[in-house]
Amino acid sequence: MNKSKTIFITGSGSGFGYASAISLAKRGHKVIATTHTEASAKDLNTFATANNLDIESFKLDISAPEDRNKIKDYDIDVLINNAATGQSGSLAEITLERLQSDFEVNVFGTIALTQLALKNMIKKNFGTVVFISSLAARAPMPFLGSYSMTKSALSSGVSVLRKEIKNLSKNIHISLIEPGAYHTGFNQKNIAKKYEWMDESSFFFKKIDKLKKDENSYFEKLELNSTKSIVNKIVRACEVDKPKKRYSAPWWQSIGAEFLKMFN
Ligand SMILES: NC(=O)c1ccc[n+]([C@@H]2O[C@H](COP(=O)([O-])OP(=O)(O)OC[C@H]3O[C@@H](n4cnc5c(N)ncnc54)[C@H](OP(=O)(O)O)[C@@H]3O)[C@@H](O)[C@H]2O)c1
Repeated sequence: MNKSKTIFITGSGSGFGYASAISLAKRGHKVIATTHTEASAKDLNTFATANNLDIESFKLDISAPEDRNKIKDYDIDVLINNAATGQSGSLAEITLERLQSDFEVNVFGTIALTQLALKNMIKKNFGTVVFISSLAARAPMPFLGSYSMTKSALSSGVSVLRKEIKNLSKNIHISLIEPGAYHTGFNQKNIAKKYEWMDESSFFFKKIDKLKKDENSYFEKLELNSTKSIVNKIVRACEVDKPKKRYSAPWWQSIGAEFLKMFN
């Protein structure tokens, strides 16, 4: 490992964020692993103490400005923007409130937190911001339009930010992570959301049985049970002097996404 860094993560109560926080702390970094809820932060702090890991956890809802301001209390070397939500359902009828809620977290909250982190990074002329996007940004999925749109917007913003920051410093890096499908429960949580409102009034009501069958089989076939391959990429982006612009995993899903792009 290179020298120990101070690494700030969002959405660390579960999935990639949780696994990355533990992995990074085990590798000797100081990890500020923020979570969506107080309860998740308490669990993570208990785990860290029991396992003698340098992890500090507290609630940080990235859509809440007063929560985002907590980042100002830390001199961080790396910010990992991991927190996200995913609405599902047809774009032809999803409510704007649902669309907006995804954009609030995945785009606006993420960029606002990044702006706060960059202030200090620019001042000290050092740092890395890692954004967890998705292969769904390259190959947007039907009935996951809201989520896919936010990740496309985020990936596009990351390219812009990288080019802009390059004008200011060669020591501040902006890196994009594009995971494929992993069984963290995130996809199941998201695909279920549309059935809260896609009822008899939906244009697609008669297609719902087939849709459920297809999406379940899609994720059953694609999802990896271990998050190791993507966590390794996240760790690498945090540790190396010059992280790559883009990391994706698993490699075969990345190739699949490029292939699907031709049919978009
Ligand atoms: N799993 C996949 O197949 C997959 C594929 C591509 C990309 N990704 C991306 O990977 C990242 C992590 O996802 P994951 O699979 O590890 O799922 P996850 O375990 O559900 O992680 C998402 C985390 O974000 C938190 N969160 C939601 N809204 C938040 C908010 N407003 N403020 C702070 N935290 C918030 C969630 O907390 P609560 O659960 O308490 O709400 C959860 O801990 C996400 O950016 C996701 O888009 C995942």
